[in-house]
Amino acid sequence: MYIDKAAAHVGTEQTVDGWVYNVRSSGKVAFVLVRDGTGIMQCVFSKADVDSEMFDTARRLTQETSLSVTGVVSTERRAPGGHEMHVQRISVHQAAVDYPITPKEHGVDFLMNNRHLWLRSRRQWAVLRIRAVVITSVREYLDDNGFVIMDAPILSTNACEGSSTLFATDYFGMPAYLSQSGQLYNEATAMAFGRVYCFGPAFRAEKSKTRRHLTEFWMVEPEMAYCDWSQNCDVQEQFVAYIVRQVLNKCVEELSIIERDTAPLEKIVTPFPRISYDEAVALLQQAGSSIQWGEDFGGDEETLISNHFERPVFVYGYPKACKAFYMKTNPSNPDTVLCADLLAPEGYGEIIGGGQREDDYQLLLDRVRAEGLREDDYKWYLDLRKYGSVVHSGFGLGIERTVAWVCKLPHLRETIPFPRLLDKIYP
Ligand code: 4AD
Ligand code: MG
Repeated sequence: MYIDKAAAHVGTEQTVDGWVYNVRSSGKVAFVLVRDGTGIMQCVFSKADVDSEMFDTARRLTQETSLSVTGVVSTERRAPGGHEMHVQRISVHQAAVDYPITPKEHGVDFLMNNRHLWLRSRRQWAVLRIRAVVITSVREYLDDNGFVIMDAPILSTNACEGSSTLFATDYFGMPAYLSQSGQLYNEATAMAFGRVYCFGPAFRAEKSKTRRHLTEFWMVEPEMAYCDWSQNCDVQEQFVAYIVRQVLNKCVEELSIIERDTAPLEKIVTPFPRISYDEAVALLQQAGSSIQWGEDFGGDEETLISNHFERPVFVYGYPKACKAFYMKTNPSNPDTVLCADLLAPEGYGEIIGGGQREDDYQLLLDRVRAEGLREDDYKWYLDLRKYGSVVHSGFGLGIERTVAWVCKLPHLRETIPFPRLLDKIYP
């Protein structure tokens, strides 16, 4: 039996295969919390019911010992998960000695070095199950709304998001890079399939230590033909509202384990406010920031802006100089581009970057040259503007940023099983 299915087995004898989470005992009764990956079961050994050898074994069980326990399942409101088992048989598979992560407080460095074990803790369990629901919801939404999954390559010669964060690798004597984004390939598949998405890891050699950056993260990137930047925002707000709703519906226990106040999440309904970059600058200046028009926003500015809204907020129309080469120049204000970032509330900041793509061959070629990119590498990309170019847009949602916000975590490191950071590639 899996513990999360206990309700269906009340009154029957069952076996749970798992690991010892915690042991409490008095002279007469021992309570052993057993976890099996799906939940935690309170296993009761009472001296009156089991022989003294078994009672002793139970009392001496150590944290993370692997075992199977067999007994009758009953309802117990006070037990974690609402059920308990009166154990009749126990079989120890391997006795764990000196498990390093104890219920006492540990420092972050220690926990990160023991990430392979830290994953077994209750909080990590809850966060990573929420991550799984975020990912399932992402796929559900896109699959149910006419988007076709089109995987993008991980190895390529292009720098989608600027050459300063590329991870280079040797491709049979030629330099190749780990993908920063599947977007450019999405633009090709969108011209073949209409609405597409890719979902995979993205790699960026982020040289600064921040709580919002990983060097390897997961990004879902939808791309739509015949879609302008504002229709692109319409899709994003539906998409994000759906993800949050699914987490609220499916992760009641997980949200309660991490003590997430769900009231702010209940407010995530469409439409989301939209403000221009100019308005955002004015808002920041009013709040005492020294930001000037033309400067990009950093974490602090994003936090300030997002704190002004209860819902995620779109900031559109950034200066061209802040954004990637592929963004469409705004015809009515050529210093800006037709893009929008989505900033999550509660101070979280950017979770989505997106916008309309430059669909004019000459303007795009000019941008490739101005950025000093190798024209040969972008020949295929420029082709898309030669053979039936259309207005098209897309966006990228960072899974870890989204999970951090939904779970209200202070740092991205807990949102992925094995985080990769500037100074961290072990375990
Ligand atoms: O804004 P970004 O760089 O946009 C792109 O990559 C576009 N090509 C996407 C597209 O239009 N198809 O990244 C998109 C999102 C960010 O908003 C953020 O959520 C996440 O990806 N992200 C990171 N997450 C964790 N660590 C990093 N170093 C990240 N860089 C971006
Ligand atoms: Mg961005």
